[in-house]
Amino acid sequence: LKVVLAYSGGLDTSIILKWLQTEYDAEVVTFTADLGQGEEVEPARRKAEMLGVKPANIFIEDLREEFVRDFVFPMFRANTQYEGDYLLGTSIARPLIAKRQIEIARRVGADAVCHGATGKGNDQVRFELGYYALEPDIKVIAPWREWDFASREALLDFAEKYQIPIAKDKRGEAPFSIDANLLHSSSEGKVLEDPSAEAPEYVHQRTISPEDAPDKPTLITIDFEKGDPVAIDGEKLSPALLLATLNQLGHDNGIGRLDLVENRFVGMKSRGVYETPGGTILLAAHRGIESITLDGGAMHLKDELMPRYASLIYNGFWFAPEREMLQAAIDKSQEHVSGRVTLKLYKGNATVIGRTSDHSLYDQDLVTFEEGSGSYDQRDAAGFIKLNALRLRTIAQRRRKLEP
Ligand code: ARG
Ligand code: SIN
Repeated sequence: LKVVLAYSGGLDTSIILKWLQTEYDAEVVTFTADLGQGEEVEPARRKAEMLGVKPANIFIEDLREEFVRDFVFPMFRANTQYEGDYLLGTSIARPLIAKRQIEIARRVGADAVCHGATGKGNDQVRFELGYYALEPDIKVIAPWREWDFASREALLDFAEKYQIPIAKDKRGEAPFSIDANLLHSSSEGKVLEDPSAEAPEYVHQRTISPEDAPDKPTLITIDFEKGDPVAIDGEKLSPALLLATLNQLGHDNGIGRLDLVENRFVGMKSRGVYETPGGTILLAAHRGIESITLDGGAMHLKDELMPRYASLIYNGFWFAPEREMLQAAIDKSQEHVSGRVTLKLYKGNATVIGRTSDHSLYDQDLVTFEEGSGSYDQRDAAGFIKLNALRLRTIAQRRRKLEP
């Protein structure tokens, strides 16, 4: 059996690597992606070699640009938020990892793919729906659902037996579970499991607290072309660089913290603490540029479709036809979403304070409280209101008739 493992280089996936070799007698191929998690990926090569993986079976890739360009930005075109708040930082990364794993499996002629998600969460669903959508007959190995380690202790004993290095602090339980990439970091579990208790400050990794942010606002501009951000303060940036720059600005101003109890696809509620500094600024800015460039009917339809689109991504259906249909509609709506937004970043808030565009539909002459010219005749409004009132008046007349 030849299997492609999504390998972070950390303790848990190192144990999985060894377990695949011992339990399945598998030839393991490791895939480690740089998605902007902020950790070096090269150490994973040395670790994999140390655990007996052939150099030709070690794949390490920088996917930051592809991640932001082909996954994050398309999602932000829809102003996507799950259950009103969550910017889907973990959810949107899974389809890309799944896609690369399948591509590597084809290249090396592997029969199986393997991930390190537990049997209780969303991530297992997202990885595996991705695998099956792209390679219907692939064999999937999910060690957390299969092995019989009864406790963390047993897992660590296994690691020790096979000389997998364990960081000193790892003998004790980690205080919570982290997933991170260029869009966000998420923290779940352990000290966060009681939803009535405030998350300790040390949970936060990529934002200072709004209380500690500067008392002076930071003003920035973001330029958009067809719904995607392309420049900050007039400077053109690649997608990954642009998001990284917004992350820094968000960090410095305490922007993008979220403490949420959400509904997992598998049915349980879970509490997560998320930090999405750049994404939070981007969402505000994108809504700002849409506010002058998007037709009202198009905007309202987008807003209705958004929760549906968000659930598809949350639930792992990125490669499903209905997600692609919605994407086509969303992308079509962005044709004229170009221009410049000015934002004020201040103590946890990203506030739009100005917008301009060559594609603007905003007509000052039409909306002005002063006497405007031409195309709007106030007298037309009387008939408009009268006909809209027709149903309401009919109902009121019936009420008068039936009520003594
Ligand atoms: N609850 C979030 C989601 O479902 C974050 C999941 C975090 N995953 C992780 N492996 N720590 O998208
Ligand atoms: C996991 O269970 O592996 C992480 C949490 C989740 O996927 O929802």
